[in-house]
Amino acid sequence: MKIAILPGDGIGPEIMKQAVKVLNVLGERFELETADVGGAGYAGHGHPLPASTLALARAADAVLFGAVGDYKYDSLERSLRPEQAILGLRKELALFANLRPAILYPELAGASTLKPEVVSGLDILIIRELTGDIYFGKPRGVRECPDGPFKGEREGFDTMRYAESEIRRIAHVAFQAAQKRDRRVTSVDKANVLETFQFWRDIVTDVHKEYPDIELDHMYVDNAAMQLVRAPKKFDVLVTGNMFGDILSDCAAMLTGSIGMLPSASLDANNKGLYEPSHGSAPDIAGKGIANPLATILSAAMMLRFSLGRPEQAERIETAVKAVLAQGLRTADIYEPGTTRVGTDEMGDAVVKALA
Ligand code: NAI
Ligand code: MG
Repeated sequence: MKIAILPGDGIGPEIMKQAVKVLNVLGERFELETADVGGAGYAGHGHPLPASTLALARAADAVLFGAVGDYKYDSLERSLRPEQAILGLRKELALFANLRPAILYPELAGASTLKPEVVSGLDILIIRELTGDIYFGKPRGVRECPDGPFKGEREGFDTMRYAESEIRRIAHVAFQAAQKRDRRVTSVDKANVLETFQFWRDIVTDVHKEYPDIELDHMYVDNAAMQLVRAPKKFDVLVTGNMFGDILSDCAAMLTGSIGMLPSASLDANNKGLYEPSHGSAPDIAGKGIANPLATILSAAMMLRFSLGRPEQAERIETAVKAVLAQGLRTADIYEPGTTRVGTDEMGDAVVKALA
């Protein structure tokens, strides 16, 4: 099995090194091949997503991605900025389902801004559709307002749209993910106001007929936002569109305390995927050896589960991460008095040791 390793910029190479260490001690015969992406792609090849990197990503069974972005590239035109690499990979690899588990390990209950009893033991999965919705709908732009009370003024406008097949495929991902969890799906929409999301609700309800073992309920997005903060443990799998998912997944991320703990997966129709920590390249701490590598290591676990058919190896990694937290080891972002502060390398080594 071939895995494309794309470390990227900032803390990307530091955290990726730890995930590679972990992959190398699993006793599997993975072929790991590394390529430049983001600012590193631009610096070495003149483009944030060099053709050779894209070719590797296409040829691989899965992609493990670090993070991209560096302020030194801020003056470049938009198409050459490091962040274009991740957008390009999503588009070129047809990755339409973004999975973000929000898990709060009991040892980190004190790291959340919410009361421990509200979040401890939290284990929910947010599934965000990535290709449709108002983010990509056309027409869009700024024009002269054609009618209504503001007729004749300039107005900005976008178009919200979802094709039936786009809704069907993300609904299947959600129901199938729920089959491996608590068998409950909450579809989040705004069917009371938006035609697009009434359609979404109807299609999700129709796809649900193929999954009689899964409990489905529908929730309006404003209520879902409220419930995520009030009683997040009520959820199992949430599935929603691109814009609502963007917002709700960041909200859910913060329930767990540190962005340094959160993995993510972006999948295509055949469960091939790109796996990456939810955070960016953290230029403020890059090169200091203090970044938390656990989100990247846990992303590698998701990769083993969803793309490489090795759920038992994924569980081994997750168990090792829990063991390391139970030992009291903490990087700076999750440090609390009474625990032991470690650097990026030490954290990676501790996970490797726990695996053995
Ligand atoms: P960021 O996620 O890189 O950092 C936000 C804050 O969290 C910083 O204080 C950082 O030090 C901290 N942090 C992030 N990851 C951490 C880790 N593993 N351990 C400990 N602390 C961690 O977001 P920011 O600062 O908004 O963006 C920095 C750069 O990253 C920008 O160029 C941005 O465009 C890019 N970015 C890239 C993403 C990607 O590659 N998918 C996603 C988000 C941002
Ligand atoms: Mg976001």
